[in-house]
Amino acid sequence: MFQIGIIGCGKIAQVRHLPEYAAHPQAKLAGYYDINTVRAMELSSRYGGTVYESYQSLLADPAIDAVSVCSANVTHAEIAIAALKAGKHVLCEKPMATTLEDCQAMVDTARACGRFLMVGHNQRLAKAHIKARDLIRQGVIGRVLTFRTIFAHSGPENWAIDGKQTWFFDKKSAMLGAMADLGIHKTDLIQYLTGQKVKEVQAFVSTIDKRGPDGMLVGVDDNAICIFKMDGGAVGTMTASWTNYGSEENSTVLYGTDGVMRLYADPNYSMVVESRDGQRTFYEIDQIQTNDHQTKSGVIDLFMESLINGTQPEISGEDALSAMKAVFAAMESAKTGKTMTVES
Ligand SMILES: NC(=O)c1ccc[n+]([C@@H]2O[C@H](COP(=O)([O-])OP(=O)(O)OC[C@H]3O[C@@H](n4cnc5c(N)ncnc54)[C@H](O)[C@@H]3O)[C@@H](O)[C@H]2O)c1
Repeated sequence: MFQIGIIGCGKIAQVRHLPEYAAHPQAKLAGYYDINTVRAMELSSRYGGTVYESYQSLLADPAIDAVSVCSANVTHAEIAIAALKAGKHVLCEKPMATTLEDCQAMVDTARACGRFLMVGHNQRLAKAHIKARDLIRQGVIGRVLTFRTIFAHSGPENWAIDGKQTWFFDKKSAMLGAMADLGIHKTDLIQYLTGQKVKEVQAFVSTIDKRGPDGMLVGVDDNAICIFKMDGGAVGTMTASWTNYGSEENSTVLYGTDGVMRLYADPNYSMVVESRDGQRTFYEIDQIQTNDHQTKSGVIDLFMESLINGTQPEISGEDALSAMKAVFAAMESAKTGKTMTVES
């Protein structure tokens, strides 16, 4: 049995981490910390376990084997690094951190401490995405030439536990907006699906419409549109938006030398593969998880599998670092107007 600590007891902890740990036969929810103590106490009374007065005291408890870091973006690196140094395995929510140096330090610390670091890139675990990757590897659409991928919803104020007052809009707590909130998911996904890394980025990242409770535009970006050139030759666009006031979009289309693959782009089928001769195969696999339609993410099972088997998590710190390099390059491209090369 693995004793789990939860740091940050807001929405993602409540809808994903806690129910999925609680359902896992080898996980025991043992400890909670949140700057909002009442929130931590509510979870402890529902799921059992101790409320700690600081994340440091939670980490100092030798009974805790692993932690989920589900706090505001800017706190991830400090807490994750402290946890790894305290001998805990870490499942950190995305974006893994808010500077490249911090992302690198998390990976280095995990390695130095011999502990596992996984990042919650749950898009990879959507069933149609797993199937799509297998089919792409089998060459069903040939070589991927171009793609477009989009994640767009109405903004974190309609999700996060503090509504319009959310830290997501506060530059000091979030640092990055839609690009790192939603864009990181699709950046990681496109690397996962194509097996190629982002090599060059040209990006528009800006705050167009999203206003905070004071009526002023929020301090972080609400839209990002990127052109990614991949190291295997594919080129495509990645769009992340907090200003889609219609129904959520979460789709990816890949155009290959032998066909086209549409993922979560059709209302009835999670995947449609169209061959060059016009033949279509329809896959009814699942529905993508949205803010309003939460399903089991599989993230916790994967993290637990890594703890139980003593093997590196499939969504490793290294993978997350690689996707974050593209995110930071996109931010730099938007600032300078230049095409940026992503360091490998
Ligand atoms: N994987 C996904 O699809 C996904 C979805 C949503 C959120 N997230 C990520 O999860 C993290 C949390 O987001 P959320 O939606 O739960 O936000 P939220 O605002 O609903 O909850 C965040 C919680 O963290 C607490 N907190 C803030 N700073 C803290 C600190 N220093 N120490 C301890 N607790 C602290 C807040 O009090 C709050 O209870 C973010 O990094 C976000 O990007 C991931």
